[in-house]
Amino acid sequence: ITNNLAATPPMGWSSWNHYGPDINETVVRDTIDAVERLGLKDAGYVYINIDDGWQRYKGSREEHPLEVDPVKFPNGIKGVADYAHSKGFKLGIYSGPGVDTCAGYTGSEGHAEEDAKLFAEWGVDHLKYDSCCSHGTAPQAEVQQVMLDMSNALIATNRSIVFHACHCGWVNVWEWAAEEGANQWRIGQDISDDFNFVGNREKYYFDVLDMVDRGNEVAQYTGPGHWNDYDMLIVGLNGESKQLVGTGLSDIEYRTHFSLWALAASPLLIGANVANLSQYNLATLSAKEIIAVNQDPLGAPMYLQWSAKDNSTQIYAKALKDGAMAIALLNRGGEPAMITVSMREHLTVPWDVYKLRDLWKGQDRGPYDIPFTTEVRSHEAKVYRVEQVACTVGC
Ligand code: GLA
Repeated sequence: ITNNLAATPPMGWSSWNHYGPDINETVVRDTIDAVERLGLKDAGYVYINIDDGWQRYKGSREEHPLEVDPVKFPNGIKGVADYAHSKGFKLGIYSGPGVDTCAGYTGSEGHAEEDAKLFAEWGVDHLKYDSCCSHGTAPQAEVQQVMLDMSNALIATNRSIVFHACHCGWVNVWEWAAEEGANQWRIGQDISDDFNFVGNREKYYFDVLDMVDRGNEVAQYTGPGHWNDYDMLIVGLNGESKQLVGTGLSDIEYRTHFSLWALAASPLLIGANVANLSQYNLATLSAKEIIAVNQDPLGAPMYLQWSAKDNSTQIYAKALKDGAMAIALLNRGGEPAMITVSMREHLTVPWDVYKLRDLWKGQDRGPYDIPFTTEVRSHEAKVYRVEQVACTVGC
């Protein structure tokens, strides 16, 4: 089944990474205003997604109905949805197929149809349906069924509601979620505000590099209408999130994280308090040419093309609709490193003459007829668009 939505990866903002369950109407309205004011809406960020914590009650459906918290949202979800729509945004909400959600609020168990109707009446445009906690150890068939129930229920409302089948990578959700009409699904556990965390934590979180490695394993499952979700962006959390663990990233590391999410065609949901973004992080999130790679209509995945023996440097590539390629030269190591890209060897294209465009600097390079070498700083990813100029053999 399909709802024919999300032809390109959904872009917007989600409340969870910064606010956790501490979310309310003022935060949502202020965020809408800030996203618009800072030019992020024009850059493509249109979904304003309320994550867990909007519900009135904790505990099961037998004890409580699913209602909005009247203190946090005095005008209901409909109130903020109307406000979002009046400004040209879309509104997202969160629930789950369990008795309760990950943060303990009343879930949708056994009430998929009723809740889908309710969300549609409120004017909701995106649903994150989270089974991470309620079905973390459930058999795959059961997870498939509860996701299918909600997918069907959303389609039956006749409202265009993007469906995020969130399962934190516990079972191979990517293998079947697209067929069930899901537009996105998480490929791993919750992201932490870390580039590459070394050490042990009580609960397991993914850092940026973990997500990139997992993403490469499941890259083939992504495509128009159905996307591998690398989790909400951490750009600008600066280790200060009330919700996520982690000590924050440097400016360059946040930019690398964004570049990799973009090339991987992951949904791009800003997780920060938008009004507090630094100029640098705002520029990162607004980078037109990087976003264009993410939103490329071909919807191709990003694949690892080459890795140094010790994995410290890597080349990733994503095919683009017009026949060009976007590539990322990633330095995972602690020192600056030289990375060389050969068209035939690393990108497996028979391009004898090619040109490059540095998408962060907005600079054209070439044409070249020899491999391209550049220095990449520690934890930096240089991103280029590569285009064929001439091909003589095996074209
Ligand atoms: C899970 C999800 C998070 C967030 C919380 C809400 O942990 O993976 O993204 O939605 O639940 O409780």
